[in-house]
This record gives sequence, structure tokens and C-alpha cells, in this order.
Amino acid sequence: MPGPQKIMKKMTAAGTLPPFLSLFFFILLLFSNPLPVSSVRCNKDDKKALLGIKAAFNNGDHFASWTEESSCCEWYSVICDAESGRVMELNIFDADFAGSIPAAIGDLSYIHSIVFYKLPNVVGPMPSALAKLKNLVYLTIRETNISGPVPDFLSELTALNQIDLSFNRLSGSIPSSLGDLHNLTSLDLSGNQLSGTIPPSLFQKITMKEPPSLRLSHNDLTGEIPPAFGKVGFFEIDLSQNRLTGDGSLLFGRSKPTSKIDLSRNQFEFDLTHVEFPEAINVVNLNENRIHGSIPAQITKLENLQHLNVSHNDLSGQIPSGGEMGRFDESRFLQNTRLCGKPLPLCK
Ligand SMILES: *[C@@H]1O[C@H](CO)[C@@H](O)[C@H](O)[C@H]1NC(C)=O
Ligand SMILES: *[C@@H]1O[C@H](CO)[C@@H](O)[C@H](O)[C@H]1NC(C)=O
Ligand SMILES: *[C@@H]1O[C@H](CO)[C@@H](O)[C@H](O)[C@H]1NC(C)=O
Repeated sequence: MPGPQKIMKKMTAAGTLPPFLSLFFFILLLFSNPLPVSSVRCNKDDKKALLGIKAAFNNGDHFASWTEESSCCEWYSVICDAESGRVMELNIFDADFAGSIPAAIGDLSYIHSIVFYKLPNVVGPMPSALAKLKNLVYLTIRETNISGPVPDFLSELTALNQIDLSFNRLSGSIPSSLGDLHNLTSLDLSGNQLSGTIPPSLFQKITMKEPPSLRLSHNDLTGEIPPAFGKVGFFEIDLSQNRLTGDGSLLFGRSKPTSKIDLSRNQFEFDLTHVEFPEAINVVNLNENRIHGSIPAQITKLENLQHLNVSHNDLSGQIPSGGEMGRFDESRFLQNTRLCGKPLPLCK
């Protein structure tokens, strides 16, 4: 995708050409492009909403191609449905325009995907007008400086499949109403200032076949993993860098479809001895907790295991050898007072 600077450069270059040459290029363009993108008509309500968004962000450079004269389906960051001409996607990333997400975004009635990514000067809360976007399937607002709560109204957007609000400044607790989203397969709220406990309702009503993923790392969450999560069968679950306590073993289980479990840097306290690892597991990070017991021998049967870290716990006994275990250096096992065997010193 060309950057906004590139587009502007192209426009100024054409502006400095002698008139006859401009005409020549114009005719060339007409014939070389029998079905130009502009054949997709832009819906006038969508255009109005987009121009409202542009104005709210002080007409920043990013929006240079968003002009009254052109079809909004040709604008940078905008994707329309080819038949209806309705705006389906808005993908805005890597820009420094400033302001809050305006209510006008709620007037893009047909939109199914919104991406706001790496926008450090986008601030303020998520506008309640977002609640109008009943067709929204993908919502990403990541690495911005939006603040305020994770809004309760997200639960009204029943088509939502993926929510990524990671690395912002969101605070407050995680609304338990997110459990009402039947079609949700991925929730990422990592890297915010969220507090309180993890709602037990999450992923309890899902109807999708795909196993869900939950990422809540780098927050200030407390309490235990809800017992109901033992039945979920996550694809990936990352709860690292919080202040969570209690049992983490309920996430494990031989027949679970799980590829990643990251519980590192919390205060989990459980016995690892009889835990069964999911057969396809790829990543197991348990470092910096209070986990005791020994490392189960079944770990040597895991063919996909590529990342393991159990350091800084209270584990004991011999580290099982065989399978993928040979690939892990001592840093993955250090600071467990009674753990021994390769790659740590031999057991006595
Ligand atoms: C938020 O703003 C600060 C400056 O106020 C900036 O340093 C930081 O990178 C911004 N965060 C993100 C995720 O863009
Ligand atoms: C949920 O997903 C299914 C399957 O993709 C789809 O048929 C259904 O319309 C979706 N539900 C909502 C409320 O969008
Ligand atoms: C394992 O975890 C420890 C403690 O958090 C960390 O210092 C170490 O770098 C980790 N090792 C690897 C290879 O990630």
C-alpha cells in the first residue's frame, strides 16, 4: 500500500508538468485502464461519515486523498463493496494525526472491519456511536493512546468475531457482557491498565467451531482463572504479567486444542506433577510464579514444543530428557531450588 507521502508526491509531480503533457498522460491513463476503480460509486452517506472523520482528525495529511470531488471508494485506507459501493473496511495505520475517534464512525452502517493501528496521537474514549455498527466483524484499535473503559456496548455488536484493543491506555474492568458475543473467537486486551478479575462469562456461549484465543497480558488483573475456563479448550491463552493467583492447571489437558499457554509473571500456585500437556502444544511459559511439584515426563512426547520456560518457580525433581527437551538451555529452568538434571547440574 502506498504511504500518504507517496501519493502527495505523485500529485505534485503531475501538477508541474506542461499542460499538453498532462493531457497526454490523462489520455494514456484512460485507455490503459478500461475499468477504473472509480466505476464503484461511493455511497453518499458513507462519504459524509468519512469526511466527518477526516474533519475530526483536523484534516491530517493521512487524509489527503479524501476529497469531495473523488469517489470515496478510491480513497486511501477505504475499501468498498464492489457492487453496493458501501464502505466495508477502514484500515488506518502508521500515522501521526491527532484527535479522538469521532461519533461519525457510527454512520458507516455496513462496515465489517475497522483497523486503527499505530496511531500514537489518537486519544480519548471509544465513542458510544460504535454501538451502531451491527455488521462489524473485526475491530482493531491497537497501539494508540485511547483511554477510558472497555465499553459494555461492544456486547451489542453481535457479529463481532475478533476484538483487538491491545496496547492502549484502557482502564477499569473487563465487562462480563463480552461473554454474550456468540461469534467471538479472539479477544486481545493486552498492554492496557485493566484491573479487577477475569469475567467467568467469557467464551461460555460461543457457537463457532474454531477454538478461541484470549490475550490479557500486561495488565493489572487479580483473582483466579475462572473454573469455567477449564472446559473452554482455548487455541491460545496468554495471561502473562498480571497479578493472578491460584490454579493454572485447569487450562491444561491432553485432548485440548491448545497451542500456547503463557501464565508467566503472575502469582499462580499449583502442582505441576500430574498436569497433562495438550498434545499439539507449541509454547508453555510458566516462569515467575509459585508453581511446585515436578515436570511431567509426558513433556518429552510433545512433538511441537518449541518454547518452554519454567524458571523462577518452586519446582523440584529431575528434568525429563528426550523429545524436544534437548533444545532448551538452562535459562528456562533456573531459580527452582530443587530442580536438577540436564541442562542444570546433575541430580545427586
Ligand atoms: C502514547 O503517547 C505517548 C506520548 O504522550 C507516546 O510516547 C506513546 O508512544 C504513545 N503510545 C502509543 C502506543 O502509541
Ligand atoms: C455468526 O457466524 C455465523 C457463521 O459464520 C454466521 O452465519 C452468523 O450470521 C454470525 N452471527 C452474527 C450475529 O453475525
Ligand atoms: C525464562 O524466564 C526467565 C525469568 O522470567 C527469563 O529471565 C529468561 O530470559 C527466560 N528465558 C528465555 C529463553 O526466554
